[in-house]
Amino acid sequence: MCGIVGFVGEEQAAPVLLDGLARLEYRGYDSAGLAVLDREKGLQMVKSKGRLKVLSDMVDGGKTLSGTLGVGHTRWATHGEPSDTNAHPHLSNSGRIAVVHNGIIENYMEIKEFLQGQGVTFHSDTDTEVVAQLLDYYYQGDIVEATFKVIHRIEGSYALGILCADAPDQLVAARKDGPLVLGYGDGCNFTASDVTALIKYTKTVSYMEDGELAILTREGIQVYNDLNQPVEKERSTVDWDISDAEKGGYEHFMFKEIMEQPEAYRKAAFPRIRGDRVELEDLNLEDDFIRQLDRLYIVACGSSYHVGVVGKYLLERMLRRPVEVLLASEFRYADPIVDEKSLVVVISQSGETLDTMAALREARQLGARTLAIVNVMGSSIAKEADSVLYTWAGPEIAVATTKAYSTQLAVLTLLGLHFARVMDTMSQREIGEILEQMRLIPAKMEEILSHTEEIQYFASQYFNHESIFFIGRNLDYAMGLEGSLKLKEISYIHSEAYAAGELKHGTISLIEPGTLVVALATYAPLFDKAISNVVEVKSRGATVLGVTTESKREEMAKHSDSLIVIPDTHPMLLPSLAVVPLQLFAYYVALQRGCDIDKPRNLAKSVTVE
Ligand code: G6P
Repeated sequence: MCGIVGFVGEEQAAPVLLDGLARLEYRGYDSAGLAVLDREKGLQMVKSKGRLKVLSDMVDGGKTLSGTLGVGHTRWATHGEPSDTNAHPHLSNSGRIAVVHNGIIENYMEIKEFLQGQGVTFHSDTDTEVVAQLLDYYYQGDIVEATFKVIHRIEGSYALGILCADAPDQLVAARKDGPLVLGYGDGCNFTASDVTALIKYTKTVSYMEDGELAILTREGIQVYNDLNQPVEKERSTVDWDISDAEKGGYEHFMFKEIMEQPEAYRKAAFPRIRGDRVELEDLNLEDDFIRQLDRLYIVACGSSYHVGVVGKYLLERMLRRPVEVLLASEFRYADPIVDEKSLVVVISQSGETLDTMAALREARQLGARTLAIVNVMGSSIAKEADSVLYTWAGPEIAVATTKAYSTQLAVLTLLGLHFARVMDTMSQREIGEILEQMRLIPAKMEEILSHTEEIQYFASQYFNHESIFFIGRNLDYAMGLEGSLKLKEISYIHSEAYAAGELKHGTISLIEPGTLVVALATYAPLFDKAISNVVEVKSRGATVLGVTTESKREEMAKHSDSLIVIPDTHPMLLPSLAVVPLQLFAYYVALQRGCDIDKPRNLAKSVTVE
């Protein structure tokens, strides 16, 4: 979704802004723009539809824009098509105020009509332009005062960066339900949608809260709450480096992040495994509360939701209690039956997904306790949940998540084992066995990752299929959901995942000679049933790419045209291994098809609008 960068300092702003925007490209966007304030030249603005490179070329990498104060923006269209005009920044009619915005102003039509009634003309189709024009309307020589008035009048979500030609030394930022981080440099200060954009310049940051407004100057940053009172922000130090957010020799971030999974899994899981026990020091749920839970909820979007689907199978088996897994966009409007005795676990890489955030708030409002499994430190979801377990995966840049998925799964598994001990639903021996096997997962992932050429070969055989099905039962079905999503996200091949037992209730009618079916059969207790389904699709002419474990290799080979084999492990941990070849398959298929792997069309990494 939209990305914002703001800078005030001694050096030329435009190259810094372009560099920051480049690091936010992963969020997904369709146009980009810059506004820079120069004491002599005043407000200068450039914007363009398309990739950042187009914008950068227009200003020779920023060199042709003088001024040491500015804002930059990458836009992911919501209101109004992607175009030069709808790109941000938006300029007020006086030409003195420029605005960049991430979010949606829900009452923009009402404000627009009001301003039109006052004779104001509009130039774009965006909701953002009302902010610029409303600032003009309220402006009486003090841009901060005008901004306060505007943020009290607008409804919806926003992260804003505002420049005013009459205040050539300051940048105003404000947020509500949209991420905005502040960065403290030496003689320069920053704001951005996330840390990635500013970490090259400073590691000292603070996170803006809802309703806050910040004034950034070269000398410092002053923050006010929504009552206009000064706020002392707590600063934190980012514990990763710019190199973590760079490709480091890999062609794509997605591939780099796939390869980082063994290490990410180690970091997420190992510090929480102490002998045959799970220690979740950051979990503040009392044992009595855990014991009285008669049902659990897992709520998330996208791949995080798929982690929840795996979690349902795992946690129900571990805890012998029903686990409901719900899409956040459904949960929030479903009048969910939760109360103070319920636990709602939300899962989010970014910690900013709007639907997940709204579901979390809904759950809290109904009195439920909330636990967030989140990757991004200081993110909105992490801040609002009652309890947070971080996944410590480091920055994930590719839109299609990989290492965040694996670490979420590791943390959710540990949570299940911890609950199982407290609830006394598994023996210490069983828990210990799983933990022992978890310690071996990174090395087994490494083994899979040392044979990427095999999967690349299969991708070269199958990349021109137009429709691919994933089938599996139980945990294999949950894996199929993620494998299918990965594939369609980045390769644009139509793909569906089905519970293999459902095939005969419809889907099998789509199987024709040559249709590719990825058959997942890693879960030993249901292996024979899975084979029956493979036989059914094969006898209708399907081409089968089988995925199974080492111990079932021979049997599966008899029924598959091509075969991917993963190491054996405890059945509950199979998804952590099976997901890796599925990610690689999606990656190599997309590579063969010449797709923009890290920035797939129409998608955004962090979905901060509904
Ligand atoms: C987007 C991303 C997905 C991600 C989903 C949920 O759709 O492209 O990779 O799984 O959002 O994001 P979250 O940050 O909440 O995990």
